[in-house]
Amino acid sequence: MSDPASTPPPSNVPVPHRRRPRYAGKNPRRFEDKYKEHDPARYAADVAKVLASGKTPAGSHRPIMVAEMLEVLALERGDIAVDCTLGFGGHAREMLPVLAPGGRLIGLDVDPVEQPKTTARLRAAGWGEDVLTTVRSNFAGLPKVLAELGVAGADAILADLGVSSMQIDDPGRGFTFKSDGPLDLRLNPQRAPSATEWLARVSALDLSVALTQNADEPQAELIARELVARRARTPFTRTVQLADAIRSILQEHKRRHDPEPDDDTARRVFQAIRIAVNDEFGVLDLFLRNLPFCLKAGGRVAILTFHSGEDRRVKHAFRAGVGAGLYAATNDEVVRAGPEERRANPRSSSAKLRWAVRA
Ligand SMILES: C[S@@+](CC[C@H](N)C(=O)[O-])C[C@H]1O[C@@H](n2cnc3c(N)ncnc32)[C@H](O)[C@@H]1O
Repeated sequence: MSDPASTPPPSNVPVPHRRRPRYAGKNPRRFEDKYKEHDPARYAADVAKVLASGKTPAGSHRPIMVAEMLEVLALERGDIAVDCTLGFGGHAREMLPVLAPGGRLIGLDVDPVEQPKTTARLRAAGWGEDVLTTVRSNFAGLPKVLAELGVAGADAILADLGVSSMQIDDPGRGFTFKSDGPLDLRLNPQRAPSATEWLARVSALDLSVALTQNADEPQAELIARELVARRARTPFTRTVQLADAIRSILQEHKRRHDPEPDDDTARRVFQAIRIAVNDEFGVLDLFLRNLPFCLKAGGRVAILTFHSGEDRRVKHAFRAGVGAGLYAATNDEVVRAGPEERRANPRSSSAKLRWAVRA
């Protein structure tokens, strides 16, 4: 199956000249200036260099623990599988050739910006409606999606939680404070509230609870109190503005011998707000409750998590499911990325894979 993301255009097709964007320095730093990375078909060699350096090309996403996921799901030709978090389609691309012909992949994603692009990429790679159905939906609504498609139960279900590299890297989505952008942080920007709106209304107590529960932030109370005090003077509307405020709070209240870089705190605050704005734990809990009833007997589920709040929920749901006789087995020890993958893709370092088999 040819994949346009990795195939350069034929040499007889004239390539229109494009003026190189202006940027300071030798290499582009801003997301929108990384035009070569955004166009892997034309700049395959440059994109390969970015990958070899352990980075993910702008506007794309590298699937994590692919071999482990395939082993756990044990897909077979003709199976019906669901990828609940289609993202860039990285895992989907690996699952499709195993399922086809005769099988089917149903790909869900809640993101209205990236989901149509991924669908178009997968269609261009040759995966038609007969084998691939993509649906813009929250995975909390999986039972409804399956019912509408007339699928009584799946053989395999995958969820790779959180955000994709494309979402993080695009400053317009507000997930990063490396470049300035609107403080948004929504996986589905068509649904309120944005992070700006949420942060304008949340009480200091609720913010502190969110920082603790969603990101294990050790200085939750201080940061919550200070952010609420500062927002009364100027509302938080930009990513860099919020990160700067966090740095300034930490500087003013610096404990001696504090070994941790301030940006780790900013990262945790952004994670906590993202989880709150998207109700990530609420939808994950609902998904986990529905999951056994979306699988056929003997069907398998694999979930990749990226922080303790997610992993705890998955572990407890799978163990409780085994206790209740809904699952026949689950893993005691989490599966982690191997050293080579961790080196090649640092984002895999925090990934934990858990699986369960439907009784
Ligand atoms: C880590 S990425 C998945 C990457 C994908 N496995 C790949 O290899 O390209 C997570 C994706 O899940 C989506 N997502 C997160 N929460 C979701 C939810 N509750 N329902 C549906 N999609 C969700 C995000 O929009 C994002 O595209």
